[in-house]
Amino acid sequence: MRHLMSPVDFTVEELDEILELAGKIEKNPEKYAHVCDGKKLATCFYEPSTRTRLSFEAAMMNLGGNVIGFSSAASSSAAKGESVADTIRMISCYADICAMRHPKEGAPLVASMHSSIPVINAGDGGHQHPTQTITDLLTIKSLKGRLGDLTIGLCGDLKFGRTVHSLIKALSRYENVRFVLISPEELRIPGYIREEVLEANNMEYKEVVRLEEVMPELDLLYMTRVQRERFFNEEDYVRMKDFYILDKKKMELAKEDMLVLHPLPRVNEISVEVDDDPRAVYFKQVQYGVYARMALILTLLEIKVD
Ligand code: CP
Repeated sequence: MRHLMSPVDFTVEELDEILELAGKIEKNPEKYAHVCDGKKLATCFYEPSTRTRLSFEAAMMNLGGNVIGFSSAASSSAAKGESVADTIRMISCYADICAMRHPKEGAPLVASMHSSIPVINAGDGGHQHPTQTITDLLTIKSLKGRLGDLTIGLCGDLKFGRTVHSLIKALSRYENVRFVLISPEELRIPGYIREEVLEANNMEYKEVVRLEEVMPELDLLYMTRVQRERFFNEEDYVRMKDFYILDKKKMELAKEDMLVLHPLPRVNEISVEVDDDPRAVYFKQVQYGVYARMALILTLLEIKVD
């Protein structure tokens, strides 16, 4: 039995297989419509979510399975003091696989240690968000045709943005990837990502503050929101929240085939006027998230269709 805590829990070859399976599902969804008949997914979300929880639920339903779960700690027995370890023991009696989001880094890992069903980290604090990364890789592979030979700008809250941490980890394993890390000084990438991922893998990267100065060199721009819920005080958040706003004028500086991704939710960091630009693919990315999670569920449940 396998769990998913980090995108690098899978080898590059295994990730390629998941992306390939997601592509097959996209082309022929009917073929997969009953492959999880009788199976149950539990979504245990201790922190708010729209995309991750609902796309997991849609993914399981698209496969013919059913869904149980809770969408906030307040509506579960966590509110009475039940531990994550005890909760997953219960969930293991009810479901075949569990997707867990938690505000504390490492909570899904603790769950996996007490679970008899596969546990998927659906986002743990400011740490990792591996299923967003599989979604991002599928989006990039589908729309760019490759995962190597890319200059990738990551912009916004690189300190608390777990999607960025997971994406850097995953992309550091592909050839000729160069990162441009765009953030205010206070929201720079954490030291452990710089040292244990970027420097350990000899990745080419630079850190800048101004988005405009690097726009022309990017093949991809991955925008992120400032993570209000991880700030210690509101004053700092207010000072940082509109530091970057991607608008039409800045898009004029970009390559004609540069793609804009965003894990969403968006707050102010991408002006709605950019939505109609064909390079803005963040809503397409949401659809890829369903195929990615369908492929992941099949992989972890070891269900072979072909
Ligand atoms: N991208 C993402 O994790 O969105 P949600 O917080 O809505 O799940």
